[in-house]
Amino acid sequence: MPPSHRRPGRPKVLILVVCAVIAVAALSIGGWIVASGSDGDKSGSEPGANSSPGATKGPARLTTKKGAALNPFAPVTSALADSGVSWYYDWDGSPQGIKSPPGVQYVPMIWGDKAANDGKTLAAVKKEGDTLLGFNEPDFESQSNMSPDEALKLWPKLEATGMRLGSPAPANGGAEDGSWFDEFMKGAEERGYRIDFIALHWYGGNFETEEAVEGLKEYLQAVYDKYHKPIWLTEYALINFANGGADVASEDQQVAFVKASTQMLDGLSFVERYSWFKFSPPKEGGQAGTTLYNADGSTTPMGDAYREAG
Ligand code: BGC
Repeated sequence: MPPSHRRPGRPKVLILVVCAVIAVAALSIGGWIVASGSDGDKSGSEPGANSSPGATKGPARLTTKKGAALNPFAPVTSALADSGVSWYYDWDGSPQGIKSPPGVQYVPMIWGDKAANDGKTLAAVKKEGDTLLGFNEPDFESQSNMSPDEALKLWPKLEATGMRLGSPAPANGGAEDGSWFDEFMKGAEERGYRIDFIALHWYGGNFETEEAVEGLKEYLQAVYDKYHKPIWLTEYALINFANGGADVASEDQQVAFVKASTQMLDGLSFVERYSWFKFSPPKEGGQAGTTLYNADGSTTPMGDAYREAG
């Protein structure tokens, strides 16, 4: 996403350990995470979960598609355990000290050219799992800012990890002829490079629920029809970036969209995974108004809807 990408400091290990212990205890005592595959039983869902810390909430839905896009924050481990996500990423090659709760997969990313040229980072990502996300919004100057040629030159280094590879995630134009992504994908095909799935971002400027869901679905379908590869939607929310300034949908609109969009995404067979932007609170000067979990680990109304989605 366009705003700054300054990295926050490492979260305190002690806090994480305490949070992990609390999360595990809560899981085993309360049993309020309902394991249900992506089309599983919805009978336990309680709408209107309360967002204050410690309050009783409805059950989270654990699904294989639902994930978390986050920057580290103190209660992140317990928030991940609470949320029903099956995976997360942090725009980084390492979990930055985050302890993953049991059953929640960490997915590393090679964010840009610096990481791709760093042998240590490339060696480190292999230890983090079997799947690797590619460059973040290389078509944006304020993000990983590379030409398709530069990205193609670096791609063999990502391939050499042997991991399952997500494409670079373009900010725009995933289905457009002549776009950054089109040039990259054509170049990759010509060179016989491996791209196992496509990573996409989508921000909706029309805040009307049904139209927004339809707009997102059309985008995903168009990209799928063009490339026939599974899709990971790794950032999305209702934010209008037209006219330079970010215009964010109201909380009610975001909540309605979280509910309807997750239902749509769960029903699209070619969408393997999705993650709302974003799970964690905004970094200083970062995008506000779409947060799922607050800095104290409590959920926002959007977070409540996301927990129950799936
Ligand atoms: C940036 C990341 C950043 C994230 C969340 C992304 O668009 O590329 O570096 O951590 O936004 O703020």
